Amino acid sequence: MSAREDEFLEYVQSGGQVETTDWMPDDYRAKLIKFIEMHGNSELMGVLPEREWILRAPTLQRKLALTAKVQDEVGHSQLIYRVVSDLGKPREHCLDDLISGKSKFHNVFHYPTKTWGDVGVIAWLVDAAAIISQKALLKCSYAPYARIMKKICWEESFHILHGRDVILTMMNGTDAQRELVQEALDRWWGPLMQFHGNPIPAEDDPMYIWRIKSQGNGEARQQFLDGYVPQIWELGLTVSDPKLRKNDDGVWEFSEPDWDELKHVVTGHGPKTEERLGLRRTTRGETEWVRRVVLPEAA
Ligand SMILES: [Fe+2]
Ligand SMILES: [Fe+2]
Repeated sequence: MSAREDEFLEYVQSGGQVETTDWMPDDYRAKLIKFIEMHGNSELMGVLPEREWILRAPTLQRKLALTAKVQDEVGHSQLIYRVVSDLGKPREHCLDDLISGKSKFHNVFHYPTKTWGDVGVIAWLVDAAAIISQKALLKCSYAPYARIMKKICWEESFHILHGRDVILTMMNGTDAQRELVQEALDRWWGPLMQFHGNPIPAEDDPMYIWRIKSQGNGEARQQFLDGYVPQIWELGLTVSDPKLRKNDDGVWEFSEPDWDELKHVVTGHGPKTEERLGLRRTTRGETEWVRRVVLPEAA
């Protein structure tokens, strides 16, 4: 690394933040784009599993809440793609790479939503896993990304309350409703445990070295378990991992998550990957004329 890059690294490692117009090493810019773009893709793809349930929501209130959540998530992707665009990759290119399968999105959005129980589990636990990563981004060395995370985290925490309320209602309902929640939780547990990624030591993770992230993957997973397993148990639900327990030193033990499944799914081979990307391709084609008319730069 050049002396200038060394100085930059020292600056971000000591808590310094960078603005769009500041000089930054090419490697830092490339890592930022890749990381933030995947976040934007995930927000956008994340609406599809839930959107399928808007028309099937059990009450008007649930329909309104779910619609609002879906709108929030699309809003998050709008904000995030703007940050990527300022770094040099326009939103249209991000969408090209998403629908061609060149860029990735989070593992949990490649799975089907089979019952209303899934809607509760996603809003409660998938959003909970996501907010742990997103809160750690509030200290990101790239200031524009850290700033938008404030609004995003606020909205995500509200999604968790909505999800918890869906789950609580079902757990206080009939045996059949409780079974729906348990069955959904059993299906989602594996993907949830894979969500924060392989346990790379923070010192070896380039995202941590550049202070794009401020916590390691294993640490995020421990935080998730610590915050949510006690709540899951309190509701009378069980977790389908016989090894799961908290040691006396406060560290959670668990069965090794299926890293092969994670790799397979995020490289575009999840059970719903093709169908959901296909839907994005179709809607992008259908709305092309709107962009042509509305966006001056697209004309
Ligand atoms: Fe979101
Ligand atoms: Fe959310």
